[in-house]
Amino acid sequence: MVGIRFLWVFVGLLTLAIGAPDSQNLSCNPGDLNALDGFLRGLDSGAIVGWGSFNGSSSSSSSDCCNWVGVSCELGRVVGLDLGKKSLKGSVSDSLSGFDRLRFLNLSFNSLHGSIPSKLFSLSNLEVLDLRFNNLSGGFPANIQLPSIKFFDISGNGFNGSHPILSESPNLTTYNASFNLFYGGINTSMCNTSPRIQSMGLSMNMLSGEFPYGFGNCSSLQHLCVDSNKVSGELPDDLFTLTSLKQLFIQDNNITGILGDRIGNLSNLVQLDLSLNGFSGTLPDVFRNLQRLQFLSFQSNHFSGLLPPSLSMLPSIRFLSLRNNSLNGTVSLNFTNMTVLISLDLGSNQFTGQVPDGISNCVGLKLLNLAWNRLHGEIPGSFKNLQLLSYLSLSNNSLTNISSALAVLQQCKNLSSVVLTMNFHGEEMPLGGVEGFTNLEVLIVANCQLSGPIPPWLRASSKLQLVDLSWNRLEGPVPHWFGKFEELFYLDLSNNSLVGVIPKSLTELKCLISRDKCIRRSSSPGFPFFMKRNQRAKSLQYNQVQSFPPSIDLSDNHLNGTIWPEFGNLKFLMMLDLNGNNLSGTIPVELSEMKSLENLDLSHNNLTGTIPTSLTGLNFLSSFSVAYNDLHGLIPLGGQFSTFPSTSFEGNRGLCGEHSSNCSDQRSPSLKLGNSIRRKKNKSVILGITIGIVSGAVLILAIAYIFVDQFWNAVLGLPKLEI
Ligand SMILES: *[C@@H]1O[C@H](CO)[C@@H](O)[C@H](O)[C@H]1NC(C)=O
Ligand SMILES: *[C@@H]1O[C@H](CO)[C@@H](O)[C@H](O)[C@H]1NC(C)=O
Ligand SMILES: *[C@@H]1O[C@H](CO)[C@@H](O)[C@H](O)[C@H]1NC(C)=O
Ligand SMILES: *[C@@H]1O[C@H](CO)[C@@H](O)[C@H](O)[C@H]1NC(C)=O
Ligand SMILES: *[C@@H]1O[C@H](CO)[C@@H](O)[C@H](O)[C@H]1NC(C)=O
Ligand SMILES: *[C@@H]1O[C@H](CO)[C@@H](O)[C@H](O)[C@H]1NC(C)=O
Ligand SMILES: *[C@@H]1O[C@H](CO)[C@@H](O)[C@H](O)[C@H]1NC(C)=O
Ligand SMILES: *[C@@H]1O[C@H](CO)[C@@H](O)[C@H](O)[C@H]1NC(C)=O
Ligand SMILES: *[C@@H]1O[C@H](CO)[C@@H](O)[C@H](O)[C@H]1NC(C)=O
Ligand SMILES: *[C@@H]1O[C@H](CO)[C@@H](O)[C@H](O)[C@H]1NC(C)=O
Ligand SMILES: *[C@@H]1O[C@H](CO)[C@@H](O)[C@H](O)[C@H]1NC(C)=O
Ligand SMILES: *[C@@H]1O[C@H](CO)[C@@H](O)[C@H](O)[C@H]1NC(C)=O
Repeated sequence: MVGIRFLWVFVGLLTLAIGAPDSQNLSCNPGDLNALDGFLRGLDSGAIVGWGSFNGSSSSSSSDCCNWVGVSCELGRVVGLDLGKKSLKGSVSDSLSGFDRLRFLNLSFNSLHGSIPSKLFSLSNLEVLDLRFNNLSGGFPANIQLPSIKFFDISGNGFNGSHPILSESPNLTTYNASFNLFYGGINTSMCNTSPRIQSMGLSMNMLSGEFPYGFGNCSSLQHLCVDSNKVSGELPDDLFTLTSLKQLFIQDNNITGILGDRIGNLSNLVQLDLSLNGFSGTLPDVFRNLQRLQFLSFQSNHFSGLLPPSLSMLPSIRFLSLRNNSLNGTVSLNFTNMTVLISLDLGSNQFTGQVPDGISNCVGLKLLNLAWNRLHGEIPGSFKNLQLLSYLSLSNNSLTNISSALAVLQQCKNLSSVVLTMNFHGEEMPLGGVEGFTNLEVLIVANCQLSGPIPPWLRASSKLQLVDLSWNRLEGPVPHWFGKFEELFYLDLSNNSLVGVIPKSLTELKCLISRDKCIRRSSSPGFPFFMKRNQRAKSLQYNQVQSFPPSIDLSDNHLNGTIWPEFGNLKFLMMLDLNGNNLSGTIPVELSEMKSLENLDLSHNNLTGTIPTSLTGLNFLSSFSVAYNDLHGLIPLGGQFSTFPSTSFEGNRGLCGEHSSNCSDQRSPSLKLGNSIRRKKNKSVILGITIGIVSGAVLILAIAYIFVDQFWNAVLGLPKLEI
């Protein structure tokens, strides 16, 4: 996706350079009129808003076609058709080839389907062909004859490039040689016939076959985007002769092999994205040649070995991602000159040693991900200089000293999302020495075996939306002030040793009461380091904080007291998990007012009474358990209750209904207890493993999406893709 986004910028620039011809007040040529007529006939609607009608092809309204929306003429001839985003449906008529003076054709962002008539690829004056984001399909013609073309973009269609358009290419025999060469792959014959081409966009199609030889002949090429296809094989040598290249996007294919020193030949590169491929071997130490590079992503390949020292010599670099490879050694870059770096992602590798102090030179850093490595030691005190840092993940390392970590990080006043999961093993949650994080929206410090109470300084983070402190050993009560977080909609305190009653204030969380009362800053970029750790939804992944399901998870603690009837206020809550506590009393009838509820788990408590029939009114409830309590009476019938398995109700001696054949399911208390313990034990083991797998996968996927998708929109202020 990022490919397209950057392309936009360049498209804009290029358009300025080439200049869509201005509309002039001249009447239009009969040949052009015919072509327009034919074009309209190909459209489902047969018309375009703002165009005259073809009532007999020579009516007075059609003679001034040069004044029609999107049509430009010069000397009485149509030279430009700018019909992007005009909601056009239908097919592309081959009558377009009648515009023999056409220089500019933009049909992008419509719903055109079918194949492109091959005649369109023989317009000798055409300079700009923009067919992006339609539903065009079929082969990619082998015999392109566009000698004037500078900008060619067919991204975001369904071209599969595996065969030329045979039926429409009467002269195909002439191109038999190239036909064979490109069969099954991308066609580069254009590079022989279109010497002036500067920009070639083939992204997001279904092009397959090996990465072709032949781009080397497109010697003026500045932008080459082949990303998000199914291209395989290795990069051919001639690609590295394209010294004018500013943008090379080949991410999200199946390209293999080593990268080699030749990448250093492309000294004008500004953006290089090789992510999501199968590259292997070590990184070449040639980055000192790429002085203009601003964007570099090698993420999700199989690169191994050490970081090349020349990576430190990229003075223009703004975005650097090597995430999800097998790089090792220390993070031994010299960050001194990387002063414009905005995003550094070295996560999911095998880096060892300490978190490098030098990162604090990158004072423009907004995002830092070092998660899933083997780093140890403390967070350097110099990190306090990272005043723009907003997203930080250091999870799954072996960092120590959470007190100093928090004392340092709280000085980074822009921090909005902090993920420290799986570090600081067994340390104590600091109570003092931390003032708080005023701009914090997301805090994830799970699975650290931290002891001590929930820290009072958290109270200062009034913008919190998501808190996950699960899988620690936190003691004491759940503070009542959680209820004051006006934006909180996801609270996971599960698997701790919390005691006392559930604070009633949790039933007053504004964001869970109503979506309307919940201020969600829409401008905030997606959060790249999501981990979904809920056992009952383990395969779910969310790309940004806003798409997390509103949840309260207090499971597996030592909470006592009753379940507040006021939970019924939380009409926006989707998940309530109180499993594995010592809750007593009855299940409030009012829980049926949580109309959005999808998961309700009250199992393994000491609840008494009956299951309120009202719960059958929870239409979205897909997962429900009251197992192992002391409930009695009839299991309600109807609604979602017909879909719940008997395990949802087991371990309650007094419950009867469809799920237990009669009402004398008299299991002995000792059996009940044994079951309970066994269940819990298994659960911890499975969960432990699940956390590892799930959070790993999620991290990879989440970053892959959000990072590129949301984050860059916001950080670089790039235009949003509209499809
Ligand atoms: C030329 O444009 C003017 C105003 O834009 C319009 O009034 C006039 O009818 C046009 N003439 C022709 C021949 O289209
Ligand atoms: C000409 O236009 C009129 C009104 O727009 C329409 O009723 C008529 O069918 C059209 N004739 C042809 C031949 O398209
Ligand atoms: C084509 O039209 C679309 C939609 O108006 C626009 O975004 C795009 O920049 C245009 N393409 C060119 C090459 O001008
Ligand atoms: C695109 O075309 C395919 C078949 O070629 C069709 O299944 C699909 O629904 C079309 N999509 C749109 C958005 O028109
Ligand atoms: C390419 O697409 C065309 C038309 O959609 C289809 O007939 C052909 O089988 C596809 N080829 C491959 C290799 O998928
Ligand atoms: C085929 O190519 C020849 C020579 O290149 C040309 O004269 C002829 O018009 C072409 N035929 C068609 C149907 O395009
Ligand atoms: C990627 O390519 C390799 C060999 O080049 C092949 O074994 C593998 O199946 C391909 N993967 C996909 C997803 O096409
Ligand atoms: C940083 O830039 C200075 C001045 O251009 C240069 O002398 C120095 O070698 C660079 N340092 C690194 C590590 O690239
Ligand atoms: C890094 O990994 C390579 C293999 O990929 C291995 O040969 C080398 O010993 C490793 N180096 C360190 C410092 O771990
Ligand atoms: C980084 O490079 C600068 C020169 O650009 C040098 O002064 C500094 O000592 C280097 N730092 C390290 C840790 O090598
Ligand atoms: C709940 O637990 C707290 C702390 O363990 C204890 O002081 C209190 O008596 C308990 N209350 C009930 C109703 O069991
Ligand atoms: C469950 O509650 C009853 C009273 O309602 C109490 O007697 C019993 O001890 C409780 N059991 C547990 C395991 O807390």
